[in-house]
Amino acid sequence: MTRPSSESEIRKITTEIQDLKREKDAIILVHNYQRPEVYEIADRIGDSLELSVAARDSGKKTIVFCGVDFMAETAKILSPDARVLHPVPDACCPMAHMITPDEISRMKERYPSAEIVSYVNTTAEIKAMSDVCCTSANAPDIVRSCSSEEVIFLPDLNLASYVQRFTPKKIIPGRGNCYVHDRITPLMVDNMRAFHPGSPFVAHPECRPDVIDRADAVCSTSGMIGYCRESRASSFIIGTENGMINRLKREIPEKQYYPAGGVCTPMKQITLQSVKTCLEKGSGEVNLAPDIMEASRVPLEKMIRISGKQRNISCRENNASLQDIRRGIV
Ligand code: 13P
Ligand code: SF4
Repeated sequence: MTRPSSESEIRKITTEIQDLKREKDAIILVHNYQRPEVYEIADRIGDSLELSVAARDSGKKTIVFCGVDFMAETAKILSPDARVLHPVPDACCPMAHMITPDEISRMKERYPSAEIVSYVNTTAEIKAMSDVCCTSANAPDIVRSCSSEEVIFLPDLNLASYVQRFTPKKIIPGRGNCYVHDRITPLMVDNMRAFHPGSPFVAHPECRPDVIDRADAVCSTSGMIGYCRESRASSFIIGTENGMINRLKREIPEKQYYPAGGVCTPMKQITLQSVKTCLEKGSGEVNLAPDIMEASRVPLEKMIRISGKQRNISCRENNASLQDIRRGIV
């Protein structure tokens, strides 16, 4: 779908969307990786955990989710009475489709006593087969809360290996990865450090282990905001999807950010025009089978319950002290 090109076009469509939002009793939830003009129509901008909770608590008739498929599905599961609209239904996170129900069944047969922790970057069918979900903001805490000594952790191999650093439990990982984060290499990080001496390297936990080893801090996307705000440094190398740079500039404009990641194309499929169209026509409605909705709500609610009880650490300094950085909720 085309993007408005001039400032005046953007202003016009933004006003139209605000009017439609009131008319339809809608809330617009926007992931940190979205385009900067999409931030301007947001009621809430955040990471997966923040937006899941916002969807559950919205109380609105309609939720428009500007993010990828699994995020809109999660909003529907947690807010089943709301109409959830995904402006571009084929904006799909490839990682969320890297594990199938058959594969989970086989793993469960092989490790019958292991609890299944699934990253929110999964389909509703996978969540429905899981004991508990997690996001990048709470994965180590969620795994530590499991009662089994073996934990099947799906689908991200890199996040599984990150979690393994924090627990003696045996983590049995999936084989998925994110093409945006997995392409960041140690050499890229070393080169960027050489160009920007004194800039801490902040990595998302979907990065490869040898990249995590080089990070000064490892954070969920919103956790990065808290870290950069609290750090004494004035510039940072950011190891995640490049759209995060816009969010950081918006929240902490006085500091500088150097992107080390790439572009998540599905995230960028959503435009102001697609949001306006879905609000006008009610298109892109998320519909899930009732039994899948019921079953997948259990691990999601459990995650939110555990996260609420614990002091979530959405950002960790990358040293053994696990120093808690204030959560980056804005
Ligand atoms: P966050 O929950 O940290 O925003 O991550 C979501 C995601 O898809 C990262 O690639
Ligand atoms: Fe999926 Fe990676 Fe895009 Fe996140 S950045 S939505 S994990 S493809």
